[in-house]
Amino acid sequence: MDLREGRFEGQMTRDAAEFSSSIEFDKRLFEADIKCNRAHTTMLIEEEIIPKDAGENILKALDELEEEGIDALNMDPSFEDIHMALEDYVTNKIGPEAGFMHTAKSRNDQVCTDIRLTLKDEIENTVKGIKNFIRTLTDMSKENLDTLFIAYTHLQHAQPNTFAHHLMAYANELRRDCERLMDTYKRVDICPLGSAALTTTGFPINRERTAQLLGFSKVMDNSLDGVSSRDFACEALFDYAMLSSTLGKISEEIVIWSSYEFRMVECSNEYSSTSSIMPQKKNPDIAELARGKSTIATGELMTTLSMIKGIPHSYNRDLQEVSVHLWNGIDNTNDILGIVHGMIETLTINKDRTEELAGSNFATATELADVMVREKNLPFRTAHRIVGRIVSEAISDGIGTDKIDNDYVDRVAIEVTGEPLSLGEDLVRGALDPLLNVKSRTVKGGCAPSAVEESIREMEKFLEE
Ligand code: ARG
Repeated sequence: MDLREGRFEGQMTRDAAEFSSSIEFDKRLFEADIKCNRAHTTMLIEEEIIPKDAGENILKALDELEEEGIDALNMDPSFEDIHMALEDYVTNKIGPEAGFMHTAKSRNDQVCTDIRLTLKDEIENTVKGIKNFIRTLTDMSKENLDTLFIAYTHLQHAQPNTFAHHLMAYANELRRDCERLMDTYKRVDICPLGSAALTTTGFPINRERTAQLLGFSKVMDNSLDGVSSRDFACEALFDYAMLSSTLGKISEEIVIWSSYEFRMVECSNEYSSTSSIMPQKKNPDIAELARGKSTIATGELMTTLSMIKGIPHSYNRDLQEVSVHLWNGIDNTNDILGIVHGMIETLTINKDRTEELAGSNFATATELADVMVREKNLPFRTAHRIVGRIVSEAISDGIGTDKIDNDYVDRVAIEVTGEPLSLGEDLVRGALDPLLNVKSRTVKGGCAPSAVEESIREMEKFLEE
């Protein structure tokens, strides 16, 4: 079958054919292309646009192709794309009446229908993957509701936290990544088939019927828009880029936390490497590579955005290139999602170390200031000043939080305000206890075990939806 022989004499050069063929990355559209042709042919038969016999022979050939699989297609780059390879297969099976299949259809509407169908499956698959990861995080959180942890701002020791609360931050970020994809799905789930080359067709096709046969929730309203729009692909790529970024952020923390200086977590051997020269090394290579690869989807997003930015309506061949980057961004992100999930699931937390960190380096200073406000009605700024001075003096005295008592607080309070605070030993010790710090943060979104349990319950509701 030769598409060119009507219009041209002779073939493209081999280079030009290879340069312009999408057949390699079209492999991904194999199943969707069969579905698309099947739905279109079925509708053509139903509307009596093509002879019933020819239509049924086409449908039979498509069934056979589905059974035989993609290897039955001649994927030579001299075919521009998989749509031509598929038509060639049907033609070889049933002869020239295969040509009825292309009545009132163009590769322009066919390709974007195929991409949308395939992308819908991809999104569903990724949503499932994210939800599985979130499930692991909620399970781990339940086990670590009062496992002390340290929270950072500016990557500097800030306040005591729990491991559960940190894991639930991951879960909430991933939930938004998931919801974003589910929202994008609505705009992918619209059928451009029937737009034909660009202005539809004079044949009385039934676009609602093909959309229904393909499982789309509605028909695209404008045919020029139908064949020329790839905003849905950019939008999906943004979602994947954002998800990648969440996974990169998680990976970065694993790299930091597993260093000797932090020693807060340890990656399992299955997710670690060693050095070819330093025999003692345990390196978090998987986390590092996840961090590194998490930039790929962002790059692909930039590429597709700039590709579509300056092209006119309607179909332009540039659009073919969008697919390459769309699938690459998706594949990379899915790889990272799976690997980061596995790495977190098998992570060991060093509880002695995280407890030690939560109680050291004046991480409880905010609570001490808060106690002054609560118990002695001090304006927070005054309390902030007193505690700032306590910390600065303790550092020059070379003492830690454990040595700060009521007398120490009063001595500094007198320096700052002229009066003692007389909080008493219990209040001072309580304020400086990291576990009590954590337990006092019971407000919604807080790190107290009760608040985190509430957050887990909400997350589980989302997972069951
Ligand atoms: N391979 C093309 C693509 O992916 C299919 C549409 C080709 N249309 C055309 N007029 N050459 O965009």
